[in-house]
Amino acid sequence: MKSFRDFMEEKVLEYYRSPREKFSSKGDFFTAPELDRAFGEAIAEFLHPYLKSLGNPVLLELGAGRGLMARDILSYYRSEDPELFGKIRYLIYEVSPYLIEKQKKVLEGFDKVEWVEDLPRIEGVVLSNEFFDTLPVHVVKGDRELYINERGEEVWLSLQNERVREFLRRMGYEGLDQRVEVCLDCIDILERIAGALVRGYHLVVDYGYTSEELPKFPEGTVVGYKRHTVRGDIYGEEMDVSAQVNFSALMEYGKDFGLKTVLYDTQRNFLASIPGFLTKLEELSFEGSPEAVERLSRLKTMLISMGDRFKVLFQSKGL
Ligand SMILES: C[S@@+](CC[C@H](N)C(=O)[O-])C[C@H]1O[C@@H](n2cnc3c(N)ncnc32)[C@H](O)[C@@H]1O
Repeated sequence: MKSFRDFMEEKVLEYYRSPREKFSSKGDFFTAPELDRAFGEAIAEFLHPYLKSLGNPVLLELGAGRGLMARDILSYYRSEDPELFGKIRYLIYEVSPYLIEKQKKVLEGFDKVEWVEDLPRIEGVVLSNEFFDTLPVHVVKGDRELYINERGEEVWLSLQNERVREFLRRMGYEGLDQRVEVCLDCIDILERIAGALVRGYHLVVDYGYTSEELPKFPEGTVVGYKRHTVRGDIYGEEMDVSAQVNFSALMEYGKDFGLKTVLYDTQRNFLASIPGFLTKLEELSFEGSPEAVERLSRLKTMLISMGDRFKVLFQSKGL
């Protein structure tokens, strides 16, 4: 018997460490950087003034997948601001040796990328796309916590974990008659991110919700993906299991670690505020070639179908 949290952690690590294609049409899901380079370029454009203000900034990406966002961010600075590009270092913190190999191939043209096993002290920006949703969650309903037995069946036992109780109290979730997911691992990594940032920013892009939206998910948000389909039976075969990110918790606990919220918005509004992204949309709609039409549809996916589900949180530390 193990807690759902321990089950999910094992499942996620098994999934990401296994040498099988996960991304794109050959794999299980698309992420925004996998859809089009315009996503990484928009992130680069957004971060540009903040990085300029930091002298010799370091970018530290958590869970970099195939390394496409890193490639697109670095390519953007190389062409748009070579002086800044010369000063930047790009670090990647990644749990999957299989993906590290992929990242090394994609990024071999950049000698400024390094892989780190812990979060070093930096002045710069810690950033991630679809990283927090892979961190394991405790699943709670009322005074009970979800466990999984040896036969892969759900068992509800009385809630013993004092940190989970404290989280429910602090977030005002006590007594809610619905499944609530408690990601203590998210709080722990947030503390490590803040500890790593001497001075700088933390950018999170992920699908998630705030406390006010919790009633929309009476059965919780945990899902398993395989071959672009949501699977009901997450307890069986190997698949990607994830839980939506509780952004209220990241903002609330961030205060304990000196992280101030600068911006929280939907991915749609975020992308629509980036001039380069809008210009690209406009250019592609005028161009009209089959390739342009295809790219336009990918950019629209980021804005429309992903646009409201995905959120952007930007926090500052020591500034
Ligand atoms: C859903 S993928 C997102 C990949 C990439 N950011 C993208 O948007 O395409 C999650 C990434 O986080 C990594 N990851 C998962 N758990 C991790 C952990 N505990 N520590 C570091 N990386 C982790 C995975 O190996 C993978 O690279």
